[in-house]
Amino acid sequence: MKLLVFSDIHVAPFFSARTLTDKRMCGFTNAVLFRSHFHKDAIGKMVQAGLKMRPDVIVFAGDAVSTADPREFGTALRELKPLIDSKIPILYSPGNHDRYVRAHLCRNAMERFTEALTVHCPMTRPGIYETGELRFAVLDSALPTKPWLSNGILTKESQDFLKREATKKDERPIVCVSHFPFLEEKGEKRHGHWNTGEILPLIEAQKIALVIAGHRHKPHTRLDEKGYGEIVTGSLTKHDIFRMVVYEKGTFRCESYHSDGTPYQRS
Ligand SMILES: [Fe+2]
Repeated sequence: MKLLVFSDIHVAPFFSARTLTDKRMCGFTNAVLFRSHFHKDAIGKMVQAGLKMRPDVIVFAGDAVSTADPREFGTALRELKPLIDSKIPILYSPGNHDRYVRAHLCRNAMERFTEALTVHCPMTRPGIYETGELRFAVLDSALPTKPWLSNGILTKESQDFLKREATKKDERPIVCVSHFPFLEEKGEKRHGHWNTGEILPLIEAQKIALVIAGHRHKPHTRLDEKGYGEIVTGSLTKHDIFRMVVYEKGTFRCESYHSDGTPYQRS
């Protein structure tokens, strides 16, 4: 079974008068100052290269946009359309930039984006998507936070859900799809995943086999010899990376590629 995994595409921001009214100003400034060197054509290239590899499931670990302006969601949806048209199930865990502010226009645009992206695999989050071989626990820890924070919060509902699923009598490994990592940035306040204390032992005990996360733009993996552990996907548009996770005979293998499908070379 093959999973096409990508994250943190952060399409370019749009400016409007409303940008000045809330946290969007931070997102816009950040994007303009620090993301001018992003690989702008990486999304289109990854879509083509990824589909050629014939994945069974697509995992998008969140952060489609920069400031959650409705026009950004429109751009992201256009770029990702071939993935939707392929009818391969898309599992999506929203990022903090996707739920950047409380403004209704932005929240509604995000909901419409989610609906369109996951049209062949609609689900509530937290929720389970099952295949013959694996169980995917898809989380949503993103919420609008203060301008100086970019953390996620694992809700009580998500904690109970993970505990319940991880202790079920089911042989299939659980793959947790989460924008925010669990192991990377453990205990980190400003950018971290809050309230994960009771879930970390389940990952350690391999009751949760693999976490596929985004959020941190630098790619990183912490995997044991069975491929259990955590993959921080890395930003597609910043580091020009996507992953192909192969599950075979009880083990996971994580392959890394540039957006054009050539093997990833650390730069
Ligand atoms: Fe993020």
